[in-house]
Amino acid sequence: MTTKSTNTVWHHATVTRSDREALHRHKSVILWFTGLSGAGKSTLAHAVEDYLYNIGISTFVLDGDNVRHGLCSDLGFSDHDRVENIRRIGELAKLMTEAGIITLTAFISPFKSDRNAARKLVPHGDFLEIYCQCPIETCEQRDVKGLYKKARAGEIPFFTGIGSPYEAPEQPELVVSTHKQTLDESVQNVVNLLMQRGIIKKTVS
Ligand code: ADX
Repeated sequence: MTTKSTNTVWHHATVTRSDREALHRHKSVILWFTGLSGAGKSTLAHAVEDYLYNIGISTFVLDGDNVRHGLCSDLGFSDHDRVENIRRIGELAKLMTEAGIITLTAFISPFKSDRNAARKLVPHGDFLEIYCQCPIETCEQRDVKGLYKKARAGEIPFFTGIGSPYEAPEQPELVVSTHKQTLDESVQNVVNLLMQRGIIKKTVS
């Protein structure tokens, strides 16, 4: 997207991202959870946040349903609106990375091109894509919000996986199979990834 603002000049902060990371005693990064509705993105993102909070890590979860009540309340579920939704989240997550925080985003983010665009906003290695893999049959059985039932009844025309596509990641940094592993195992997988990448150093037992 091209910017419409003219006559604006970038103001460089005197407190840098490195300063903030040093203050927090850990690096910042974006953990980008993607997957079908009901695959467990929000549950896992919040469980990881809970774990990290308890070991003194600064985090924030951006959750699809919540963000659509505010920042993205003007957007629906057409392809065009989903692209804009993910663009805004990518930009917001970038700012939060500058703020020295570990940002966990939980959006279906069904299109590869949008996820890749968000990845490109930050330096290499600062965007870790986590695919919450779960067969649609299982998501549909769970149907936590009752939306699959409505979609099958034709009440939600562009529901992801039914009336609208989901493009699975080809090379995510991590795959968690939420139908095969426990929540604790998935949390541990994510925490291990953060340690392997040198984002955080310590864990609690
Ligand atoms: S995204 O496609 O733009 O990334 P987002 O993660 O923000 O979607 O929102 C998905 C959530 O919105 C779902 O978990 C579900 O609760 C709700 N929702 C409402 N309508 C739809 C729809 N047509 N397709 C998918 N999710 C929908």
